[in-house]
Amino acid sequence: MYNTVIGTDIEKAKALLEAGELVAIPTETVYGLAANGFSEAAIAKIYAAKNRPQFNPLILHVANLEQAQKLVTEIPEACERLMQALSPGPITYLLPKSALVPDLVTAGSSRVAIRIPNHAMALDLLSRLDFPLAAPSANPSGYVSPVSADHVMQGLHGKIPYILDGGSCHVGLESTIVGFENNEVIIHRLGGISAEQITTITGVEVKTSLSHASPTAPGQLKSHYATSKPLLIGDVEQLINDFIGKKIGLLMFDQSAGVAAEKEILLSPSGSLEEAAAGLFRAMRLLDQSDLDVILAERFPDMGIGRAINDRLERAAYIGD
Ligand code: TXA
Ligand code: MG
Repeated sequence: MYNTVIGTDIEKAKALLEAGELVAIPTETVYGLAANGFSEAAIAKIYAAKNRPQFNPLILHVANLEQAQKLVTEIPEACERLMQALSPGPITYLLPKSALVPDLVTAGSSRVAIRIPNHAMALDLLSRLDFPLAAPSANPSGYVSPVSADHVMQGLHGKIPYILDGGSCHVGLESTIVGFENNEVIIHRLGGISAEQITTITGVEVKTSLSHASPTAPGQLKSHYATSKPLLIGDVEQLINDFIGKKIGLLMFDQSAGVAAEKEILLSPSGSLEEAAAGLFRAMRLLDQSDLDVILAERFPDMGIGRAINDRLERAAYIGD
């Protein structure tokens, strides 16, 4: 057991990481639970603290492209373009790993996931280290990802020594994960960068591969990002008929559902999908902690980051195996 502390001391975070300890770090997407990515012993602590299955590989975070290059054996041209345009930013690249990357990071796969986070504090920390940081989202496996230091504390207090507080994550959804095959870009997880942006930047065909059966990224597991209370996504006016007499929480985009409910959250009254994404996980946590029987969410416009919002809501809603 640790006495978990929240603070802003980058040198303290550095010293703990160098000693093989875990530190939660802010990024622009969600908070990460970081360890020395070159140390199998440190990485093993991540799986234990999160209760995460070992078949689920980890993203390596670095400060710049130069550091990224050492971790891979090849960077396809489409990837190069994306890196120039979008990194640092909410995108993760799956690339053939170099011998420097431990097998525990990639769960045995020959490809490693690399990301340069766009957050001043994270970049400052990373640039002071001589190893990359392996970091999944800093939540117990399966629950909604944390977008503030307090969220990390709620899920992991006692399990880690330090949470580096960099404020609220401004993107609010995890990074988009892309791989490269033949002359195509494959999106393995929808996230902070939209498919439309990737198409524009690369000029090559972009495919989406979010298969649920045998996930190449377990963030693709159907049941994930889940609230403890049941959550349903769809036409709220329809759904509500099945819950007459129940305490209902509503999660809406820009307009009230105009129906009686215990609680209703509008994620962006001005109709911005980016603003809605930034507030999504906080709202899901808030509703989950309120005195409600069920959470009903509307489906968001199927474009841009709206697709990633729908993806997270669908996984939160999934009940079954
Ligand atoms: O925005 C993000 O990506 C955040 C912040 C902290 O950087 N990280 C994050 O990590 O969401 P995590 O572990 O919760 O989700 C990463 C996903 C997992 O679904 C994992 O399976 C997949 O990336 N992944 C990691 N390495 C992989 C690899 N070598 N091959 C395929 N999938 C991989
Ligand atoms: Mg996660």
